[in-house]
Amino acid sequence: MQISVIGSGYVGLVAATCLAELGHDVVCVDSDSAKIAALNAGQTLIHEDCLQELLSRHRGTRLSFSTSIQEATRDAVVIFIAVGTPSADDGSVDLSCVESVAQSLNGSMNGYKVIVEKSTVPVYTSEWIQNALAPEGRAHNEFDVVSNPEFLREGTAVTDFLYPDRIVVGASTERAANIMREIYAPLIDGSYGQLPSAVPKPEKARLLPMYIETSPRSAELIKHASNAFLALKISFINAVASFCEAVGANIEEVCKGIGSDSRIGPEFLRAGIGYGGSCFPKDVAAFRAVTREFGFEFPLLDEIKRINEEQRIRFIRKVRGALRTIKGKRLAVLGLAFKDGTDDVRESPAIKVIEQLLQEKCQIIAFDPAAMDRARQMLGNRIRYAPDAYSAADGADALLILTEWKEFASLDLARIKRLLRSPIVLDGRNVFSQTEMAEAGLNYHSIGRPTLEVSQSLLKKGHIVR
Ligand code: UDX
Repeated sequence: MQISVIGSGYVGLVAATCLAELGHDVVCVDSDSAKIAALNAGQTLIHEDCLQELLSRHRGTRLSFSTSIQEATRDAVVIFIAVGTPSADDGSVDLSCVESVAQSLNGSMNGYKVIVEKSTVPVYTSEWIQNALAPEGRAHNEFDVVSNPEFLREGTAVTDFLYPDRIVVGASTERAANIMREIYAPLIDGSYGQLPSAVPKPEKARLLPMYIETSPRSAELIKHASNAFLALKISFINAVASFCEAVGANIEEVCKGIGSDSRIGPEFLRAGIGYGGSCFPKDVAAFRAVTREFGFEFPLLDEIKRINEEQRIRFIRKVRGALRTIKGKRLAVLGLAFKDGTDDVRESPAIKVIEQLLQEKCQIIAFDPAAMDRARQMLGNRIRYAPDAYSAADGADALLILTEWKEFASLDLARIKRLLRSPIVLDGRNVFSQTEMAEAGLNYHSIGRPTLEVSQSLLKKGHIVR
């Protein structure tokens, strides 16, 4: 099928590349000519597993890039809109980019087309696009607007697209619904995964995705409600973790106990310094704004955000508690990205914690396996950057872990202990076990777990008590 994807950000680029991988002819459009030049030269510009490989496989054959919406959409049967939908000051979604795309599309409607909203947008946006595209009497049967939200996680976006839990399609006509089914046919029937060249299926992926057809409004709502629910799970467990600290319980044990109930499930119950990234903070705020717009009170959404912000404040308090005074202290920070597996620092809890520590006149030396360049664009030379975790720890008054990178868990703790000026580790992501930290002789403070002071925790012959 001839498809064009407007927008070459995370969602647009991954969707365009994966749609080409499914066998479609795709043109990806962006108004940023530097970005298009880089993509045409084969650079993905984002840190995403398998993306480079798929881009090299299809660029110049089934996948091309352009700066002209008119050119790219002329022959397309389906047009995915995947442009940015940033937050306005009141938390609502700024739809100006979507609007300007809709206006540009007005000039290229030369036959029936399906316009697919892929960007995360508030409920009723499909009607809004419909009206923008049919301003003065253009027959509605020249096009249909479909909502097809994405559920990609950064870091695993390609396999999330190719082996999804579910595909949600909100179409209001059978004609559009049929075309969408055709696009996703290799995923719906599992034939994509059988190809010898297919990207390998992740272990936890479903055998076949659920293909869910709804009204456009329901599809739009599914996206906001899904992200708000996942954020709720994180805030809930973080609040429980704080209570664990108050009563001396252990959040890891509590999570095991509640997550093993199949109705609750173990995912998204990792306590820490809160959620960040380009989706959860924005989508919770946008969901709140749209409910308000319709006169519906949903204070639970405010609470999700409040708890998330409080997690960072609590963590800073912990740093202060462990170091007594923090002004002028040198702190080694491991992790700048908003989560592991990505170089993205947007709304990163790590960056927010650093900003606060800088205000309190700490000196920061940081390391992240992928996000150093992006963090530098944000923090400049207000902090120092280390080439690896050990150099960051060298001479520091404490080590702070702010992103859940798996590689941090295999650090040589004895070496870290030797390098630190004081043997203090504050783990905002519960990357380490308390036992291994105590064995290494490090005073370890984490989230929702009792703090082990080394001197009290070592028994004769190196045995550890809790
Ligand atoms: C999220 C959704 O998962 C995805 O479906 C949607 O399309 C886009 O938003 P993403 O932003 O890539 O994906 O990150 P995700 O893996 O969901 O993590 C978001 C944040 O929550 C990160 O800061 C992460 O550190 C934090 N998190 C996640 C926790 O603090 N605890 C958890 O248990 C899980």
